[in-house]
Amino acid sequence: MTQNDCFRVLTGRNQRRSLAVRSDMTIWAQPLPADEFLRPLGVILLEHNRQLTISEWLLQHVDHQQLEPLEVNATALLGFLTEDLLLHHKDEEEDLFPMLRHRCKPEDGIEGVLAELNRDHATEGFLVRDIAVDLRKIIEGKKPEATARFFHSLYIFAEGQQRHISWENKTVLPLAHKRLTSQNLGDFGWNMAARRGIDYPGSS
Ligand SMILES: [Fe+2]
Ligand SMILES: [Fe+2]
Repeated sequence: MTQNDCFRVLTGRNQRRSLAVRSDMTIWAQPLPADEFLRPLGVILLEHNRQLTISEWLLQHVDHQQLEPLEVNATALLGFLTEDLLLHHKDEEEDLFPMLRHRCKPEDGIEGVLAELNRDHATEGFLVRDIAVDLRKIIEGKKPEATARFFHSLYIFAEGQQRHISWENKTVLPLAHKRLTSQNLGDFGWNMAARRGIDYPGSS
């Protein structure tokens, strides 16, 4: 059995993705203009779209067992995983989810949704810690400790991201548009900007 065969057994992936993924690297962190934070739910959606693009990019290279693109982009990927994604989780866990918990009605079933999403965040956190160890090795010019395990962790992370984001877009964002007040949205945008060291429009 080849390493590729082993990987397919591990992941259950038999088909290569045909989805076109951007080949340029503008998928990595792009600072947002301050005005975007006036529409915090729009920022969440923008970030979800970028996360989806990155997870698709990861799946493409994992499917093809291509280590080189991951090596070339190791610093950017590490920054995305340990900084951008961390900020996104804080936006949701410290602002969006508590606001929804406060504003939603019993028929919205928000508690069950949030419990599942928080579990996903915890799982992503474990995977990110694991992947980051190998990315730091790569940045030092070394190889991952076990390449098959590295690819497998990236695969589980990227697949999980796609399911998680799709679920948030289908459940959390529509409820947020429906239930959050303009005061909630103002506070949310202000906090998001502050986490990124950006002056909220009109605050200075
Ligand atoms: Fe999330
Ligand atoms: Fe999210």
